[in-house]
Amino acid sequence: MQNESSLVAVVTGASQGIGYAIASYLASLNYQLLLISRNLDNLKLAAEKIQKENPGLKSAPSIAALDVSDLVEVQKSIDHFVASAGHVDLLCNNAGYVKRGTSELAHDEFLKMINANLIGPFNCTQTFAKYMKARKSGRIINVSSRSGKVAKKMLGGYSASKFGLMGLNQSYYKELSH
Ligand SMILES: NC(=O)c1ccc[n+]([C@@H]2O[C@H](COP(=O)([O-])OP(=O)(O)OC[C@H]3O[C@@H](n4cnc5c(N)ncnc54)[C@H](OP(=O)(O)O)[C@@H]3O)[C@@H](O)[C@H]2O)c1
Repeated sequence: MQNESSLVAVVTGASQGIGYAIASYLASLNYQLLLISRNLDNLKLAAEKIQKENPGLKSAPSIAALDVSDLVEVQKSIDHFVASAGHVDLLCNNAGYVKRGTSELAHDEFLKMINANLIGPFNCTQTFAKYMKARKSGRIINVSSRSGKVAKKMLGGYSASKFGLMGLNQSYYKELSH
């Protein structure tokens, strides 16, 4: 078990792109990490790369291959990670999916965006928030998009998911930031 003074974070969508860059930066600040995304091989590669680039890391990044829209898996993985780390300081909800389309967007593509971009952050934040409330400390970063503030044509489904995320974000801010 780590002591209270070590920094601990969970990053979703951490196997590539912006999520990988965030996880890599946090590792350079010596955060103990849980990296989440669906593809296990990509996660292993990301964790190995982060460890190689940060040889001074106290512990190798943990990984959890899961879909953030699966509440049971999210709870199991984050709870298990926090039990071993001792506490958690930061959650970064970054995992996301974009598919162009509004009037002709396929129903299943709309659901994929809502699942990854909105249900996922809902699941991860609710799981994380119980630790944050108990400790009266913690930070949540939600990676939205300009499309979460201004809707563009042909991005209606994506915008709906990111506007939803902004609503969740604002409400959590009002509930937890005092
Ligand atoms: N790139 C941009 O220009 C841009 C602009 C504005 C906002 N954003 C936002 O920034 C975030 C990251 O974008 P990006 O371009 O870096 O994306 P990306 O390169 O496509 O990476 C997405 C990451 O999320 C994971 N992921 C996707 N769906 C998931 C799910 N249901 N459950 C768990 N993990 C999932 C992917 O891994 P698996 O496929 O293995 O699960 C991957 O690690 C997204 O929220 C996106 O909306 C991006």
